[in-house]
Amino acid sequence: MDYEDWLKRKSLEYRNDILYFAEVNTIEIAEKFGTPIYVINEQMIRKKYKKLKKMLDSAYKKNRIYFAIKSNSNLSILKILNSEGSYYDCSSTGEIYTCFKAGIAPDRIIYTGNMFTDADFEFAVKNDVLVNLDSISQLKRLVKAYDKLGKEKGIVSFRINPEFGAGHHVHTITAGKELKFGILDNQVIEAYSKAIDEGGFKKFGIHQHIGSGIINPYDFEKAAEKFLSIIKNLTSTLNIDLEFIDFGGGLGIPYRPEEEPLDLKTYKEVVITKFKDLVGEGNVGTPYLIIEPGRYITAEASIILTQINTIKNNGHKLFAGVNTGFNTLIRPTMYGSYHHIILCNKNLRERSLKYDVTGPICESGDILGKNRELPELVEGDYLAILDAGAYGFTMSSVYNSRPRPAEILLNDGLTYKIRKEETYDDLLTHQFIPDHLM
Ligand code: LLP
Repeated sequence: MDYEDWLKRKSLEYRNDILYFAEVNTIEIAEKFGTPIYVINEQMIRKKYKKLKKMLDSAYKKNRIYFAIKSNSNLSILKILNSEGSYYDCSSTGEIYTCFKAGIAPDRIIYTGNMFTDADFEFAVKNDVLVNLDSISQLKRLVKAYDKLGKEKGIVSFRINPEFGAGHHVHTITAGKELKFGILDNQVIEAYSKAIDEGGFKKFGIHQHIGSGIINPYDFEKAAEKFLSIIKNLTSTLNIDLEFIDFGGGLGIPYRPEEEPLDLKTYKEVVITKFKDLVGEGNVGTPYLIIEPGRYITAEASIILTQINTIKNNGHKLFAGVNTGFNTLIRPTMYGSYHHIILCNKNLRERSLKYDVTGPICESGDILGKNRELPELVEGDYLAILDAGAYGFTMSSVYNSRPRPAEILLNDGLTYKIRKEETYDDLLTHQFIPDHLM
């Protein structure tokens, strides 16, 4: 794909050598709000949601998108998606609480945790949130929570580990015998039998999530086939219908200019069509088709603006030192992930040079981009780090006592501060000093 087009798809373009994001001048944002700052494009979130929804609707009407809030849990983002009709995938009670604060009803949430505590179950049951179990051993404790709270049992679901995983990094692959997630093939009948006989459940769902950051749609194929064959065996053996079949998330985005977007047509072919075939056979009921994308919806909707404070030439290589690092975007350090980095002001730069773009954290791994070819940079320039909307803020930290930056939402050319920057006092607010140290 042509580079300019690749940028345009992310709502980025240069006008008179100034970078615009969602029709707004990035330098004006940086100067008005300060840097570093997360800048989020509302329309991109809506667009990506609608694109997926359209694809699902075109294949099978009874579908739902559960947005994985671990990718971005800002209340405004949750509200934007709520207005689009989204459902929500939560991985902790904290995420469920966040959804409630965004006005999301409990019946729009699925709680796919792992290593649940009794308190987790009680929180979910008390608040009428559907739990997706991750181990047969958890069933008893979930039932105990229902009994203790005197609540009527809803749907029970198990996460299946179909053993065919995929993902952009070994730490984001979540299916395979060696991995902690879900239950394997040979435990599925036992799990649902126990749910019926010992748990007294009458309604069932089923789930898988095979990994994250999958850009080749064929990587979903084997897992989908295995998952569907497990489902077929389950529903015919126990003679049960399913309320939903959830294929999880994992849909990737093109982080690199040479990458094409995920081909949704092929995804539909290798996952949804096969799902439809199974439903068509008539042995599973008429389940909802569910997917749980996080990154696909939010990643491209956000950039981080940062300012260069130091250009260092150590005689061997060039470093562009910026005012944020793995405290605001840990993906390059944690997974070696590529995030494209571009200059906000291209004026008067004749030559391009290679730089390591590095943050201010006191670790040599604090590199946002290695050996990046950029127009010649000068101290004071602003850079945009792309595709930071998924697993950006949610994985940020205050390491080195650096307060987290603000978040700005762009819509219709207007800017809205949707999260205040933290202060030094925010960093200290939960500490107490015992008397003998006063
Ligand atoms: N559903 C479940 C049960 C999940 O565990 C996840 C992600 C998702 C859905 C959403 O996956 P997505 O559509 O966003 O790929 N921190 C890593 C990603 C870890 C994802 C963990 N689970 C990264 O920055 O790449």
